[in-house]
Amino acid sequence: MNLAREIRYKPYKEWKQTDIAQIKENMATSPWHAHFHIEPQTGLLNDPNGFSYFNGQYHLFYQNWPYGPAHGLKQWVHLVSDDLVHFKETGIKLLPDHTHDSHGAYSGSAYAFNDKLFLFYTGNVRDQEWVRHPLQVGAWMDKEGHIEKCKQVLIPKPRDVTEHFRDPQLFNYQGQLYALVGAQDLQEKGKIKLYKAPHKNPEKWVFLADLDFEHPASEYMIECPNLVFIDKKPVLIYCPQGLSKDQLAYDNIYPNVYQVFQSFDPEKGKLIGSSPIQNLDYGFEAYATQAFNTPKGDSLAVSWIGLPDIPYPTDHFDYQGALSLVKKLTVKDKQLYQYPVESLKNLRGQAEAFKTRTKSSNSYELELVVSGKEKADIILFANNQHKGFQISIDSQAGLLTIDRGASGIQYASQYETKRTCQIPNESVTLNIYVDQSIVEIFVNKGQKVLTSRFFPQNGESGIDLVSGQVSGYYYEMRY
Ligand code: FRU
Repeated sequence: MNLAREIRYKPYKEWKQTDIAQIKENMATSPWHAHFHIEPQTGLLNDPNGFSYFNGQYHLFYQNWPYGPAHGLKQWVHLVSDDLVHFKETGIKLLPDHTHDSHGAYSGSAYAFNDKLFLFYTGNVRDQEWVRHPLQVGAWMDKEGHIEKCKQVLIPKPRDVTEHFRDPQLFNYQGQLYALVGAQDLQEKGKIKLYKAPHKNPEKWVFLADLDFEHPASEYMIECPNLVFIDKKPVLIYCPQGLSKDQLAYDNIYPNVYQVFQSFDPEKGKLIGSSPIQNLDYGFEAYATQAFNTPKGDSLAVSWIGLPDIPYPTDHFDYQGALSLVKKLTVKDKQLYQYPVESLKNLRGQAEAFKTRTKSSNSYELELVVSGKEKADIILFANNQHKGFQISIDSQAGLLTIDRGASGIQYASQYETKRTCQIPNESVTLNIYVDQSIVEIFVNKGQKVLTSRFFPQNGESGIDLVSGQVSGYYYEMRY
């Protein structure tokens, strides 16, 4: 939604309780609220931030402007979880209340040090002329949730980048602390800057290198870089805005991509032995994915189900955005697999045989096997004209296509209404999670992932098997 700058950047103190109450009232009338995905309490949700393990629990924040469905003065909103499926908002927020984050507490990461969680983020500062001064700043959160911001700027803007310098990710590699920061260089190309904290003190950083990740930069900016290690293989996940479509085919306004490497040489600032760059997700919207290695060494990720610069049908109800299910990352044959954490199975109700239904709760999982012999078409959110969100599998051609153009509220249509990805020329399994207006599809247990919104009208909730040999189960989700 286009709102005037004065509204979007109005200090939080100047809003009234009644403003929030009114937004909540309008939000409550939306027919599209998710049941087992994270949505904002109010306003706009974008990137996942500070995904970490601390004090016996998982911690996760989301970027938020609480006063409407627009990108305004951002804060971080805190959630905790024991099982990575049920998340609870704690009421704790990282507020834009300091001279170093006066125009927004932008995205970043978190890392536990003894009895405190360190939050490493971008302070978005604008001057009188509205010129942006991006600062990498920090804060300590104790076990009670009290947040104390670091007094000094931790990484000032280097001379060789523009105002686009943000989203620090702190990670540990072989006992050393490093950080990646996304940037745009003076030639307006995307860069990732690599830093090291030589004394294991996350308040003291030295520049190591512009990361060499065997990637010819065609994009104009890299947002949200993350490096995780999966069976010792480095996996780089990032958002290259303006990436050339000669380098990678994609249809969303901005892609979210990954590369798998053989090794990491931090002192030389190099990731070595890259697999080809690939889309992390083939659906209509998944962005700003944040991943981290847990203390046990697992790798977990969560994505924003949304995209920058796109109006959404929920704007009408004063909110926008959701977070994906938490996905566990693994690597097989240089390919990344992303699959919901095991504990999600606890939400499954009784297994029922998969069949056509004229109505459903729009809150279910389908676990299907699609025979490799012929084409299959499945329609979710189907209406009585058999129109809805269509999933088409053509195993001979090795293609899976989704199409949301036939019904539901149409939006972002300038980016087309279909998405396609390659699949093996054989039978495939599909795990499909439907949650009111969210569809997450996992092909072959996470070999390909397609994350999307679909906004049904008038209670459209059928499931149609239009053609093909498809067998499997329907599970009502209990939440
Ligand atoms: C990505 C992003 C980040 C930034 C944040 C601001 O969606 O643009 O680069 O830190 O959103 O909300």
